[in-house]
Amino acid sequence: MTWNSTPTWPIAAATDVGGMPVYATEMKGAIRREPDRPHYQSRDYNPLHGGIARRFEPIVPAIGSGPSILTILRFCRTLFGRLAPASNSWDIEVHQFRIEARADEKGQPTPEGVHRDGVDYVLVLLINRRNIASGTTTIHAPDGRLLGSFTLTNPFDAALVDDRRVHHGVTAVEPLDPLSRAYRDVLVVTFRKI
Ligand SMILES: [Fe+2]
Repeated sequence: MTWNSTPTWPIAAATDVGGMPVYATEMKGAIRREPDRPHYQSRDYNPLHGGIARRFEPIVPAIGSGPSILTILRFCRTLFGRLAPASNSWDIEVHQFRIEARADEKGQPTPEGVHRDGVDYVLVLLINRRNIASGTTTIHAPDGRLLGSFTLTNPFDAALVDDRRVHHGVTAVEPLDPLSRAYRDVLVVTFRKI
């Protein structure tokens, strides 16, 4: 992956920037890369950024079509396909996120608060945590009630979310050592039935 080389990384704390290749797939067959398009969430799902088209830098082609991403997408297709056996086709979005934290400014992985992504299923895959405290994932009932929480700690720790059934959030991140650079990198993959 390219978290350490992409030129689009945020300099400011508490900013998220994701490359966004878009894919489509059927349950069997190829996972096709689609043209990049703006990321759009309705205000129902994202009161902060909803209702506007957000454009992200595309993930570089070598990564967006590489074996790592395709392995991850195939894993998701198999798993989510079991949960929704009637669904044959999926629209998939992939985002790289880096949340930076500074001593004077916590990083907000989900500045919109507890939310849904507005899709069917979500994978949040931890890539790296450097010098980061907290960043706890929380899972909620639609009425906001906390159902559980956990912290993605090691690379490839994953949260698999049934986005139609539960809402999710992540607590703010802060540096363990205030004098060192601190960040949390995740890959987010969303699957929407088409
Ligand atoms: Fe989310």
